[in-house]
Amino acid sequence: MDRLDEKALVGETAAIQYVKDGMTVGLGTGSTAYYVIKKMGEMIKEGMELKGVATSKATEKLAREYGIQLVDINEVEELDVAIDGADEIDANFFAIKGGGGALLREKIIASAAKTFVVVADGSKKVQSLGQFPLPVEVVPFGYKQTERAIRKLGCKTEMRFKDDKLYVTDNGNYIVDCSFPSIQNPSQLHETLNNIVGVVENGLFIHMVDVLISVDKQHEISVDIAKR
Ligand code: 5RP
Repeated sequence: MDRLDEKALVGETAAIQYVKDGMTVGLGTGSTAYYVIKKMGEMIKEGMELKGVATSKATEKLAREYGIQLVDINEVEELDVAIDGADEIDANFFAIKGGGGALLREKIIASAAKTFVVVADGSKKVQSLGQFPLPVEVVPFGYKQTERAIRKLGCKTEMRFKDDKLYVTDNGNYIVDCSFPSIQNPSQLHETLNNIVGVVENGLFIHMVDVLISVDKQHEISVDIAKR
């Protein structure tokens, strides 16, 4: 089983187990979330009524292609479930997200969901967070000052670029990718980063993941519920 098969397996399993007729679903961003959306498209064709709230413009486009009716996040009080990928996830179900640049909308949508499910291929489970550079969304004004302040926390920083230009998020902001030697205390780092002026949000998802659907080294699927 290769990575794509794993992504398909966890994505489809999440849709089958957690998406039910009549639900409004938070739709994640990325190559694993793609399989959730694709499966939801099939479920709609089979007669289910489903609505979606997208975590990015790319996901909005994808959802339309698969016939999922989109609703604005401001039009719903609560989402029944949100299903999204992750860049890293540890044994406490703390995660790094934002590899695809959608961390802010992903976090807003995960926070609005009754249940937040993460779908992860075999490469995503880690002993401790931080091998994957932590994405931090910052406002464009004074971004170099903000980047400098973040660097003082002891990480190497890189402004994210796309096509030789600074990468701009769906919210009109920039992303600083931060490489820490290791992230010993994710909760504290989350607080510290969000207290830096100019930082909009960071990619640490703390006490947010309710369910992790993942594949182990033997390619077995597991569905684990957060203990809290
Ligand atoms: C996008 C994300 C994605 O969920 C994360 O990057 C994982 O992506 P993929 O499923 O393609 O590996 O946080 O902002």
